[in-house]
Amino acid sequence: MTKTSPDGRTFPRDRMPAIRRVMVPQDTNAMGTIFGGTILSEIDLAASIAAHRVHHGTVVTVAMDSVEFKQPVFVGDLLSLFGIIEKIGRSSIDIHIEVWAERRLAGGEICLVTEADVTMVAVDDESHPTPVSNPEFQAESRLG
Ligand SMILES: CC(C)(COP(=O)(O)OP(=O)(O)OC[C@H]1O[C@@H](n2cnc3c(N)ncnc32)[C@H](O)[C@@H]1OP(=O)(O)O)[C@@H](O)C(=O)NCCC(=O)NCCS
Repeated sequence: MTKTSPDGRTFPRDRMPAIRRVMVPQDTNAMGTIFGGTILSEIDLAASIAAHRVHHGTVVTVAMDSVEFKQPVFVGDLLSLFGIIEKIGRSSIDIHIEVWAERRLAGGEICLVTEADVTMVAVDDESHPTPVSNPEFQAESRLG
């Protein structure tokens, strides 16, 4: 089973994914591959899980600055989503998301299928921006 993506990136097996989930037929589009909106939803969730390493409270998504669907995703693929904290502002947290797919029903190859950049903002009880609770958190380097 190869752990290296066609673009040469290596699956970060020493890192804890924010989310792991198997794709099922309910996740498909009219072509039978996985609907991009399903992946976006998982990216949003993974970004919020990553953001909670920096802020213990409510965070909201303010921007998805870039999303690149590099490879299709298929039913039976096991997705692993990694959230890398790249920058911490006063209330904002920039997170790079890597989505890896293990082709469990087709040879077991693991490849990087999607990357995204998400900004989350810590908010108070009135939904106003509030300082992150752990501003000392060290920004992380990209994986792979
Ligand atoms: C997130 C929200 C509270 C920010 O409110 P705001 O009035 O823009 O607040 P500010 O201008 O003070 O910005 C707050 C922080 O967000 C950052 N920010 C605001 N808009 C941004 C954007 N488009 N991209 C990246 N960062 C952004 C600012 O740089 C600032 O960061 P800092 O505190 O680290 O310096 C507000 O836009 C909101 O409630 N949006 C809806 C969020 C939501 O419901 N998301 C779920 C999807 S429906």
